[in-house]
Amino acid sequence: MKVLYVCAELFPFLKTGGLADVGAGLPPALRALGCDVRILMPAFPAIARAAASTRLVSLLPDGPMPWGRAPALPATDVALATLPGLALPLYLVQSPALYERPGNPYLGPDGKEWGDNALRFAALGWAAATLGQGLDPDWVPDVIHCHDWHTGLAPAYVRAFADAGRAAPSTVFTIHNLAYQGLFPAAVFPQLGLPAACFDVDGLEFFGQVSFMKAAITYADRITTVSPTYAREILSEPQGCGLDGLLRQRANLLSGVLNGVDYQVWSPATAVLLATHYDLDTLANKSLAKRALQTELGLEQRANALVFGVVSRLTEQKGLHLLPPLMAELVQRGGQLALLGQGDAALEQAFVDAAIQYPGQVGVRIGYDEATAHAIVAGADVILVPSAFEPCGLTQLYGLRYGTLPLVRRVGGLADTVVDCTLENLDDGSATGFVFDDSGGQGLSSALRRAFVLFRRPDEWAAVQRRGMGLRFDWLASARHYVAMYQSLRAGAKSGVSTSFRRV
Ligand code: ADP
Ligand code: GLC
Repeated sequence: MKVLYVCAELFPFLKTGGLADVGAGLPPALRALGCDVRILMPAFPAIARAAASTRLVSLLPDGPMPWGRAPALPATDVALATLPGLALPLYLVQSPALYERPGNPYLGPDGKEWGDNALRFAALGWAAATLGQGLDPDWVPDVIHCHDWHTGLAPAYVRAFADAGRAAPSTVFTIHNLAYQGLFPAAVFPQLGLPAACFDVDGLEFFGQVSFMKAAITYADRITTVSPTYAREILSEPQGCGLDGLLRQRANLLSGVLNGVDYQVWSPATAVLLATHYDLDTLANKSLAKRALQTELGLEQRANALVFGVVSRLTEQKGLHLLPPLMAELVQRGGQLALLGQGDAALEQAFVDAAIQYPGQVGVRIGYDEATAHAIVAGADVILVPSAFEPCGLTQLYGLRYGTLPLVRRVGGLADTVVDCTLENLDDGSATGFVFDDSGGQGLSSALRRAFVLFRRPDEWAAVQRRGMGLRFDWLASARHYVAMYQSLRAGAKSGVSTSFRRV
């Protein structure tokens, strides 16, 4: 089974969030299960710099297509490359005019979206679909697995080829975050090279705009998201983000497959980025990691301080605006906060102010840094993830492996992966962290308080740590679900049974 894995981020080369971690973890697991996997990405500067032995495959087709015209792209080609440490081949979409720019994959250095993002990511979708048509005659995918809106036009182009009578691969689209939809003015539509009929309420038109996310949900053969609970939540408002009606119509094709963890990167016994190592049998050494973290972030060296850690994008999604108003209480109870994050300027400022107000008790680092992320997940006692919504969430999974109890809101993947320290769960040994429901500050405040109470009972605390550290969220387990999905799609394609959606 040949699988083309299409994405915009890949750890450790280019990362703004968990999407990159998934790109690093899932394809090798698919390969371990026997899939012949290749990754397709734009040649963003960070990727192009690291790529080696690049060999040109082909220019992307332009000009007339059976339904009209190809997308109106500047000269763009696809090359085959390798990346250091990556065992899988990588196709790069190369287009200096589209990708050779500073900033992250989506935003310029000024924090604003690039004005031509529709074309930049249409090129990615077009490259995927044309690889599906034999752009590289040596390797033609059976399945194209697309991730997030950046890849959303791939299923639409694949469908255009199929409707024109061409043999086409099956498509799977994974939603990592429905809140980011890739919405563009209707004026870009003629440049995208899609059949005119696609700009329709039954296609990718969304309240007069072009929606890459809607295109993918409409045209993919299967839709997945990254946890079972989020798969249910997006079927209604508010998590449905205006697409819940369409998702309900396609619910028979939608499923939730929980993400995994790359334990080669995230294990307290071996993590390369960690100065102090420990594991279940040397758990006492976690206190050294705590001391190192306190030193690094300018916190008072108190072994008995309950240290709360945050490693996060600072956006509304993450619910962290609830935290600054609770700082006085947290510090007064003897707690400390170690935070690493960047994003919303007002939130950044609120945490910087808290660090000034509570010197030695609140340590804040604004920015992005992998080593500090490990230092916090290892050195903190509790990892805070009070998200308003969370499709999967990875930091709570890292916390579990590091004996750092997750304190989370009961949403999405957080609800699926953390078991609350209720008396019953403590009694039967299933508890792994603290879970609250309320979206205001009260639920978080009570959960913080419960963490302080359990912390005063070291034996029970250690039992909860051990339970979490023993759990495994293996990529192989997730990959098995995807492989079964690919196989059922191909079996359907061979038997001529259409697996795609028919509107009734
Ligand atoms: P999301 O993808 O919504 O940001 P996830 O929990 O899935 O949330 O993944 C976040 C990933 O990004 C984790 O690997 C986390 O360690 C990392 N991360 C987030 N913020 C930072 C930061 N400021 N510095 C380093 N790593 C970060
Ligand atoms: C998104 C989600 C996050 C998820 C990640 C990887 O960024 O916000 O919850 O863990 O994708 O799937």
